[in-house]
Amino acid sequence: LKGEYDHFLLKEIFEQPAAVSRAMGEGGRLLHDFGTAKLGGLNLDKRDFFDIERIHVLAMGTGYYAGCVGGAMIEHLARIPVQVFDASEYRVSNPIVKRDTLYLAISQSGETADTILAVKEVQNKGGRVLGIVNVVGSTLARLTEGGVYTHAGPEKSVASTKAFTSQVTVMALLALLLGRMRDVPVRRGKELVDAMMALPDRIHETLGLRDRIKEIAEKYKGYGSMLFMGRGNYYPIALEGALKLKEISYIHAEGFSSGGLKHGPLALISPDMPSLFIAMDGDFLDKDIGNIQEVRAREGKVIVLTDSDDPRLEDLASDIIKIPATDEVLAPILAVVPLQLFAYYVSLALGREIDQPRNLAKSVTVE
Ligand code: F6R
Repeated sequence: LKGEYDHFLLKEIFEQPAAVSRAMGEGGRLLHDFGTAKLGGLNLDKRDFFDIERIHVLAMGTGYYAGCVGGAMIEHLARIPVQVFDASEYRVSNPIVKRDTLYLAISQSGETADTILAVKEVQNKGGRVLGIVNVVGSTLARLTEGGVYTHAGPEKSVASTKAFTSQVTVMALLALLLGRMRDVPVRRGKELVDAMMALPDRIHETLGLRDRIKEIAEKYKGYGSMLFMGRGNYYPIALEGALKLKEISYIHAEGFSSGGLKHGPLALISPDMPSLFIAMDGDFLDKDIGNIQEVRAREGKVIVLTDSDDPRLEDLASDIIKIPATDEVLAPILAVVPLQLFAYYVSLALGREIDQPRNLAKSVTVE
């Protein structure tokens, strides 16, 4: 039931503090004193983790972007190389399956044919696959050797929101666990545990920006196309923001790496082509500001999404969305929330179907 909400999508966006909390087992998947995570369903002897040389993630769509964000978290904390694959491509690539590779399949429904077939290809070659799945007892949950349920609760809207943030949260738990088995010291582990425990409150605060985002969405609803830009672990967030917008508003949207701007997309910039830049505090903020200047110099409107107080951003932005700060490892989970709200309010202003976009099905059970 939608209850007080007009659409399931909005309800599910607002359920994210609770969903992310459930993905952390309401805290039960975190061991504060040891600064690590505990994942019961992996069905792996911890000793097997020492032998993992690389991780391959298999998923489609929004799950693929969750894999990109979470994979970078694993690389950052555990220094294990992670590659993320479009499962439909992986399956046709005659993949090299190896004993020291851990395979992770990410799926909300657990019924996505492309992902299931990629998993079967790996399993037929002797690979061990774990699932990060939302629907309990689904095909993928049964097919995989073990895994972690995201426990986001039922997701009814075709466009995925709370499943995404829950998938990334589970990947963060895995990154913490693997990181603490390797180089991450207990003190940094505890810091991350604290930041994870506080994440539902930070998401709640971010949701408080809804009215501001609605105003911005109404200003941008009339454009035929829009670009989304991000750097580092905000690049897959930019791609996810673009996917959300095209999926429910039918406005053409594309995501690019901020660094890639000069390598082609800059040619698209004009007063008719707005962009949304994710420009978060950190080592590369100056680079982001440089990119935004290039777009503004060509009269492109820019919505800036940031957690920084840098006054240059206020000056440059056509519109600015300021989100709360959190640990930099977890910040992408917060950054996606305004993009979900933006897509929702643009679509609302355009009178779209929102929960049931044309041509799309909630789970894609055919190839
Ligand atoms: C986008 C969306 C899709 C799914 C994709 C995989 O909002 O929902 O891109 O993420 O079809 O679905 P699952 O996660 O069920 O395997």
